[in-house]
Amino acid sequence: MSFWYVFFVIIGIISIIILIFGLPRKKGTRYHNIESLDNPDVVKAFEKMTNFLPFKLLHRKVISRLKKFNPSGKLVDIGCGSGNLITQIAEKLSKLNLVGVDISSEILEHAKKRVVEKKVDKKVAFKNGTVEKLPFPNNSVDFIISSLSLHHWVNPIKAFKEIHQILKENGTFLIFDFRRDSRKFFYGLLTFATKVVVPKALKNINEPLGSIQSSYTPDEVLQLFSQFSFQNAEIKPFLAWMFISGKK
Ligand SMILES: C[S@@+](CC[C@H](N)C(=O)[O-])C[C@H]1O[C@@H](n2cnc3c(N)ncnc32)[C@H](O)[C@@H]1O
Repeated sequence: MSFWYVFFVIIGIISIIILIFGLPRKKGTRYHNIESLDNPDVVKAFEKMTNFLPFKLLHRKVISRLKKFNPSGKLVDIGCGSGNLITQIAEKLSKLNLVGVDISSEILEHAKKRVVEKKVDKKVAFKNGTVEKLPFPNNSVDFIISSLSLHHWVNPIKAFKEIHQILKENGTFLIFDFRRDSRKFFYGLLTFATKVVVPKALKNINEPLGSIQSSYTPDEVLQLFSQFSFQNAEIKPFLAWMFISGKK
């Protein structure tokens, strides 16, 4: 290996580290972004995007975190979208009775097709509903998971009340979402993705950039949580995302 090859590899690695960790965090105000997942063009474009590698890597992270909780019984995925995550959960974790809930009936049609294609349709059911009024009796759910949906919820206080109500005693929730106070590097990446990479239908609604701009900061989530009596409430912030968990 030549000296210059090693030299440029080292310079490349140092530049990437400086870009990711060296740029300051953003402190913009939150604005609500509507994803329009009842629009068939947006749904198709979103489906395409879930096959991109970064999306798959994020879902892999969620599954490995979920495994640490060793869930069993009834697990509900709120804002399950086209069923990408819940299908992987069905493939990778046994002992679970799975239900995906989403506000968009259009996207649920894709989720239903996906579980049939992946041959996990016997393990997964879907319900059309919103997090502010979940279609389950009180004290009936063992585990709630949600990925990249919290930033869309119109009334998060009502949503967490609902989550608290439908969970059984000692039932657990795990929420994964972007954090708005991410480093500028990620804003750069998502701006590039939104302007250049994603299909037109998503560009028109400013996605995925709009998702990070409408997400919360860990401090805002902490404040939101102070109104509820969840046990072991925990926020684990990472570079551009966070895990939020707690127990009833
Ligand atoms: C970015 S997608 C994420 C989909 C999936 N969880 C994933 O990780 O691939 C956000 C999803 O949340 C759903 N959603 C938004 N607001 C909701 C609400 N109030 N109740 C239930 N689902 C909601 C949207 O319809 C959409 O399918």
